[in-house]
Amino acid sequence: MIVKSVDDIFSTKDIKIPNDEFQKIIGQDNAIRLVKMAVKQRRHILLVGPPGIGKSMIGRAMASALPLPKEQISVQYNPKKPQRPILRIERRDGKNQFEYNLKPIPYEMIPDDVADKLGIRCKQCGGYSEPSKDICPYCLNKKSSSRNPTFMYKFDKKRNFITKNTILDNGDYVMEIYFVDDDKVYKYQKPKDNTPIPDAILSRIDMDNYDRKIIVPFDRPLFVQVVAKTESEMFGDVEHDPYGAHPDLGSPHHERVVPGAVHEAHEGILYIDELSTMEPNIQRGLLTAMQDKKFPIAAKNTHGTGAVVKVENVPCDFILVGAINVVDLESIHPALRNRISGYGYEILLNTWMPINEENIYKTYQFVAQEIVNDGKIPHAHISALHEIIKVSKMIAKSYDDVNGLTLRLRYLGGIIRVAGDLAVLDEEEYILSRHVQEALRIAKPVESQIRSIVGNNWWKNLTIDYGNYVSDNRDVR
Ligand SMILES: Nc1ncnc2c1ncn2[C@@H]1O[C@H](COP(=O)(O)OP(=O)(O)OP(=O)(O)O)[C@@H](O)[C@H]1O
Ligand SMILES: [Mg+2]
Repeated sequence: MIVKSVDDIFSTKDIKIPNDEFQKIIGQDNAIRLVKMAVKQRRHILLVGPPGIGKSMIGRAMASALPLPKEQISVQYNPKKPQRPILRIERRDGKNQFEYNLKPIPYEMIPDDVADKLGIRCKQCGGYSEPSKDICPYCLNKKSSSRNPTFMYKFDKKRNFITKNTILDNGDYVMEIYFVDDDKVYKYQKPKDNTPIPDAILSRIDMDNYDRKIIVPFDRPLFVQVVAKTESEMFGDVEHDPYGAHPDLGSPHHERVVPGAVHEAHEGILYIDELSTMEPNIQRGLLTAMQDKKFPIAAKNTHGTGAVVKVENVPCDFILVGAINVVDLESIHPALRNRISGYGYEILLNTWMPINEENIYKTYQFVAQEIVNDGKIPHAHISALHEIIKVSKMIAKSYDDVNGLTLRLRYLGGIIRVAGDLAVLDEEEYILSRHVQEALRIAKPVESQIRSIVGNNWWKNLTIDYGNYVSDNRDVR
């Protein structure tokens, strides 16, 4: 039975958890309204508020509302200048794919010179076979040697396409592209006008021409959280290889290119916790990335073998979601803050909400979500829910000095999990009110545990290694 009214609830089983990630976030309706707008219009946001009130949750919900990424970014071996890998951007463009739905052509229809080079025709006996086969099945000679153009680099894969230019009798010039895909051969004839070769074709030929490394794949999470905040992590790097690009021992330049969080968050959300603790030079770099929507990848270690390698203009079109405490607002680089507020929203989150039936129901919904997410604890009986509401009011009173329900929910979530563990220990079918009461005693932060032992002056003498030596006097509530 799924109910909507607080009075009909027997346990959290009766509560429907919304599918929409935004609806799972309780008590932040105003913020959600702005955040949804920010996603739609691709604006940056700054979420301001204390720990555990759903800042990360909002960031994730934003990512879930974004369309699938359209671009895939690769770096490719550059035969002319290996230390400047070629940047390739493929677009997922359904329309093009269908427009150029070419049919494979039979091997026999392929001009001999093309068939030789693609490794379809055996030069020795003239027999046709799949290009993936290196040995001719008719004369058992190796046919791959014929498609090893001299300019090819050691790390290259086999070439999968040939362009054939023919000058017709009337002086017209025809360019045909033959390419191999999954052992089938396709022909694309470039129109006489200057129409560029369609992406759908290019993506099937160029990409396999030389070895490449996909650094930002189509299939990727759109929520990228930056934790360590080093320059390498933020803006990418080129790895050092003690053997450099030595053909036998080293690794090719492009293989060592590593994207940064700004690139991985391309078309998605770049979520940065504690924006204020980020070093000023990284804040400045971030500002550049936000302005240009492109950022070069270069080695951060200027003495390594990667130092010569650079890839310019790597796309990084992300939505920045910065999270910060009110008290730290001042330490954000003014230009960065300006950039966010000028092109987005600064949002102050609620730490509590008024007590009414709707908000009580939302708190129940929160409890249900925490239980289901945890997966290891039973549902909460209504008596436990009543107890949790008491705790919620208590937290609101002690932290925010209001008569309300708290939105500092990480703490409340912790109590629910401890209560759940106690219910499991008791082999109860539901979390009951006594489990919540006991959880509250257990889940007290160490500071308040000490305070209840030695009183409010506990921090006055930090040289004492406080323990529970006066545990008989412990105030349990
Ligand atoms: N408004 C909310 N609605 C529902 N659940 C919430 C809400 N706020 C917090 N939670 C719960 O608390 C957990 C912690 O929230 P979250 O990680 O989003 O906090 P935060 O504000 O990012 O904290 P921090 O500043 O420490 O990173 C969430 O995973 C969720 O279970
Ligand atoms: Mg967080």
